[in-house]
Amino acid sequence: MNVVVVGGGGHVGLPLGLVLAKAGHHVSAFDTSSEAVESINSGVLPFLELEAESLLKEVLASDSFVATSNPECLKSAEIVIVVIGTPVDEHLNPDPEFVIKSIMSLKPYLRAGQTLLLRSTIFPGVSQRLESLLGEEIPGMLVAYCPERIVQGQALKELTTLPQIIGARSEEVYLKAQEVFKTLGIKTIFATPEEAELAKLFTNAWRYIKFAVANQFFMMSNDLSVDYERVREIVSFEYPRANDLPKSGFTAGPCLFKDTMQLSALVQQKFPLGHSAMMINEGMPGYLVSRLDDIYDLSDMTVGILGMSFKGDSDDIRSSLAYKLRKLLAFKTKEVVFTDPYVKDNRLKTEEEVLEIADILIIGAPHSAYKYLVTPKPVIDIWGILGKGVLL
Ligand SMILES: NC(=O)c1ccc[n+]([C@@H]2O[C@H](COP(=O)([O-])OP(=O)(O)OC[C@H]3O[C@@H](n4cnc5c(N)ncnc54)[C@H](O)[C@@H]3O)[C@@H](O)[C@H]2O)c1
Repeated sequence: MNVVVVGGGGHVGLPLGLVLAKAGHHVSAFDTSSEAVESINSGVLPFLELEAESLLKEVLASDSFVATSNPECLKSAEIVIVVIGTPVDEHLNPDPEFVIKSIMSLKPYLRAGQTLLLRSTIFPGVSQRLESLLGEEIPGMLVAYCPERIVQGQALKELTTLPQIIGARSEEVYLKAQEVFKTLGIKTIFATPEEAELAKLFTNAWRYIKFAVANQFFMMSNDLSVDYERVREIVSFEYPRANDLPKSGFTAGPCLFKDTMQLSALVQQKFPLGHSAMMINEGMPGYLVSRLDDIYDLSDMTVGILGMSFKGDSDDIRSSLAYKLRKLLAFKTKEVVFTDPYVKDNRLKTEEEVLEIADILIIGAPHSAYKYLVTPKPVIDIWGILGKGVLL
């Protein structure tokens, strides 16, 4: 099939386009970022994603994949997949109109007979609004909501293994969407668009709340001078009802927080669990700084942060709490120096420089390489990546 991925240069759109091209489709990644398009067409992935760069080179060479900023490519598409995000404003309110407006602005290039698969995480009700708008403007265009559930970094594996939820109003629409995902060799789940919208938001809010439970337990244990990681190991050892208790860490990134707040906005902020989770997760850098302030005379110290991305072995700094930590420390310390082997930021120092200059070190992101960190200086490791517990 001829497939266009709108937002095809992004973290979700690009891996999807690549696996679809590999599965035999002709894919155009349509993206408004000319920088992303240029990079992709020259065979360079604009961000880290396991094994994706070699696949990119392969599908470019076989002419089954191209990136473009020209919406003309939409005219010949049979399948249009939309993967642009729903922004959340400074008051934490989602802008549900953004995705709708972006799609409607493409109207001159869309036509009857095409199938539009909405894949962005959306505010509930957007699918139905889009169905009725497109139903009026382009009768005969099919619309389904097929949320993305991959975890960044593992996209290629997960796109070809995880079952796909298809939120469709009719069996005809479901079967048309299923045709696409069948080519990836995965199972599909028939849902209504409303079920699919909530399924996606519940998935992310659930995960966000689980991490908040771990982080709250970490702070509780720590205040009692007990190592949370040790308690977690004891709790989960051969005990199936609690073996999913997460480790402590900075819970951040572009999805979990935003989607929990989308869900909250949906119920007029009557989501105390979600709000508590936000206070706990976003409060972690502040907790860390106040503990360090109790232990050390920070005003006379240089603190080094190792790892600035929002999670390990990633270059993605979107909503990263390591940056929030840096800001908070800047008020309290003589100097904050920071490093990351993957992130692009011209203020970064090298790891050697940070290890040399800093009086104490904090693991900001649990990159695998830090497991082997050797330094005589104190290292604060709330992730437990060094295997020495998380007590501070
Ligand atoms: N990042 C994840 O792990 C993840 C996982 C599941 C779902 N999601 C959801 O997927 C969506 C996209 O997330 P992402 O992380 O890929 O974001 P991203 O910012 O990496 O990618 C979005 C891309 O869309 C492009 N774009 C924006 N507006 C456009 C338009 N009008 N036309 C064409 N291109 C446009 C941008 O240039 C960017 O390249 C979001 O709704 C997100 O919540 C993300």
